[in-house]
Amino acid sequence: MRTQVAIIGAGPAGLLLGQLLHKHGIDNVILERQTGDYVLSRVRAGVIEQVTQDLLDEAGVGTRMHRDGLVHEGVQICVDGVRHRLSFKELVGKSVMVYGQTELTKDLMDGRAAAGAPTVYSAQDVALHDVLTARPRVSYRAEGKAHELACDFIAGCDGFHGVSRKSVPASAITANERVYPLGWLGILTDTPPVSDELIYVRHPLGFALCSMRSPTRSRYYLQCSLAEDIESWPDERFWEELKPRLDDEARARLVTGPSIEKSIAPLRSFVAEPMRFGALFLAGDAAHIVPPTGAKGLNLAASDVQYLARALVEHYAEKSDAGLDTYSERALKRVWKAERFSWWMTMLLHRISENSFDRNIQLAELDYLFRSQAAATAFAENYVGLPY
Ligand code: FAD
Ligand code: PHB
Repeated sequence: MRTQVAIIGAGPAGLLLGQLLHKHGIDNVILERQTGDYVLSRVRAGVIEQVTQDLLDEAGVGTRMHRDGLVHEGVQICVDGVRHRLSFKELVGKSVMVYGQTELTKDLMDGRAAAGAPTVYSAQDVALHDVLTARPRVSYRAEGKAHELACDFIAGCDGFHGVSRKSVPASAITANERVYPLGWLGILTDTPPVSDELIYVRHPLGFALCSMRSPTRSRYYLQCSLAEDIESWPDERFWEELKPRLDDEARARLVTGPSIEKSIAPLRSFVAEPMRFGALFLAGDAAHIVPPTGAKGLNLAASDVQYLARALVEHYAEKSDAGLDTYSERALKRVWKAERFSWWMTMLLHRISENSFDRNIQLAELDYLFRSQAAATAFAENYVGLPY
């Protein structure tokens, strides 16, 4: 089999890239290790930046998001029981969309099916070959048979644990990493949200986040230790740990109920440099990870894809490799700014240090954020997403 671009991974990065390339008449095949249903069962991100929304519209998959997504013009931060609001609309004239990654992935899958573009689900033993040559190949097994896909380029969109980044010799890659000694325990419930905006909670007992998927479905997170066993977190315990971290109004409005999903995600900052190796281009979580506090993971996957799709269109339509040659540098500039913001929000809101100096710095920084127009504007500008 032959294609122009072989895409590894059918997460948001791979599916969005496939859709944008298809719009420009560039052939692509997606190889995904899991089944489509498994990919759709993973509950992850929920906040979509304006620039990501624009890109989804460009890919022709934004209709349901605009219909069912919730436009948020601000966000709330609760510090030790007192809630503050930061208005994106007033500070930077922008908003974000709350729309689950699961729904977005479904829209991308439906768009791909409508376009008739090929995706191989349950592809086993995916391996990359000859990436430093002009004739790269990808081998895999599907339905018990060995296959080989010849291509011009490979897009490694296979997430943090994927095969693409690992195919590059370790000596060719710089891994920048920071691991935090904590995770997020998340639950999804069919209960109305406590507020019509997200509430990020800083509390001596630890961080919490009240988020949502719709007016009848809530997503809550609690800071937890990495050693935590999900079995020791029955729903009652989750609610009992959440309640004291909230302000009085949120606590009074909290509707508890059975969880329909529960998972623990470790917090990590990671950037692999560069993001290009010959014919292989890494995009999304395959190249970088942010702690979820800034809601940037999915949005960064989309911004990488934007740079890569434009560069591939330039290559095929205009016979120019300028975009491909600068892909890594341009993508990394935006990645590092989102890494900085996500690290900063994580350090600002979690109980990480027992040192009173560190705690007072957190409180001083938060007080500055609520009192200074300049600080609030910088926060809003980053949260809604920096321009491409
Ligand atoms: P992924 O979504 O990881 O997709 C990669 C795809 O590649 C997967 O479908 C995988 O099955 C496939 N794959 C892997 N290996 C292979 C292989 N060898 N061969 C073929 N296919 C392969 N972000 C937020 O903003 N907020 C959150 O609350 C949040 N929670 C998260 C929770 C978890 C547990 C994780 C892992 C991430 C979370 N994120 C969150 C981050 C966000 O979901 C990711 O940044 C986003 O999914 C990145 O998209 P991607 O397409 O780059 O990678
Ligand atoms: C979510 O709704 O899952 C969510 C929202 C904001 C974040 C992280 C996760 O920062």
